[in-house]
Amino acid sequence: MNATAETKPTTDSTEKARTESLISPRFYTTDYDAMDRLDLSPVRTEWDELMREFETDANTDHFQRTDEFAGVIENMPEALRKEFIDFLISSCTSEYSGCVLYANIARKVKNPDIKKVMRYMARDESRHANFINQSLKDFDLGIDLGFLTKAKKYTFFKPKYIFYATYLSEKIGYARYITIYRQLERNPQYRFHPIFKWFKDWCNDEFRHGEVFALIMKADPSLTRGLNRLWIRFFLLAVFATMYVRDHTRPEMHAALGLDPKEYDYTVFRITSEISKQIFPLTLDIDSPAFHAGLERLRAIGEATAKAKAEGGVFNRVKRAGLAVMGVATFARLYLLPTVGNELPDKVRTAPAW
Ligand SMILES: [Fe+2]
Ligand SMILES: [Fe+2]
Repeated sequence: MNATAETKPTTDSTEKARTESLISPRFYTTDYDAMDRLDLSPVRTEWDELMREFETDANTDHFQRTDEFAGVIENMPEALRKEFIDFLISSCTSEYSGCVLYANIARKVKNPDIKKVMRYMARDESRHANFINQSLKDFDLGIDLGFLTKAKKYTFFKPKYIFYATYLSEKIGYARYITIYRQLERNPQYRFHPIFKWFKDWCNDEFRHGEVFALIMKADPSLTRGLNRLWIRFFLLAVFATMYVRDHTRPEMHAALGLDPKEYDYTVFRITSEISKQIFPLTLDIDSPAFHAGLERLRAIGEATAKAKAEGGVFNRVKRAGLAVMGVATFARLYLLPTVGNELPDKVRTAPAW
């Protein structure tokens, strides 16, 4: 679905959130009948335990704003503000993307287990998205989430791709938020916006969402065997590479947090890889020099592409096509690097211990 004359975006942020690019958050739709057929009986005990956690709803009152938020964005240096707003827009879009996906699945399936868990997760993601959006609204840059639901393009993903991609995005979301939270706990002088104080309890929600998909995958061992290993490898690399390229477009924000983007990203990769051993039969060799070099090359290609796009013109269009080919080739080379095998544990559930 695309924007029509009657449904114009109301703010620049809404337009930014709607626009598609290789590294911007997307909206997804899936095969709801296949979701209906999921059978969780092989993981029943762990599943019921997890549902009790969702029922407890420890974060009911967590996402309440305080007076500390007033005037903070207004008083930021221009370059930092630009990147921070960009970060808020992209985070809000990706939280809301989860909300829309989970809410649609909850609405369309009959399977009581899936319906229930999707409702819980949509509840959490809607809180997250709205909490970020309030900070954007302070600056009159709120995203029109209702408009976005109608105007954003939806990408169809078979359930198994939803499981791999969403599992990873929930776990990497946890790893990103907890790494920032710990950095600011040690160095409070870098906390340039109060929203970071909320990250700890917030990321426990994301961790729990990841557990849902870990159990769904555990219930059907074929999802982590055979040729599906190749898909897992693909999604690991796609998620890591996207994050690496995107984070390097925000040097001011990372400097303000006292973080080096490269170091920060590798910390997040390490935590995510460690967690993913609960269900993925392999991890990427993130310490190999070839992996580091490949990501750096993707970053350089990403930067050159953004520059060519900003300059415009026929020559730059040709240049961008060339860069796209180089990007695909670099990604393919990274994909073919050796991975590290992992024996799956009997018990899937793991705790947010970082
Ligand atoms: Fe979230
Ligand atoms: Fe989540």
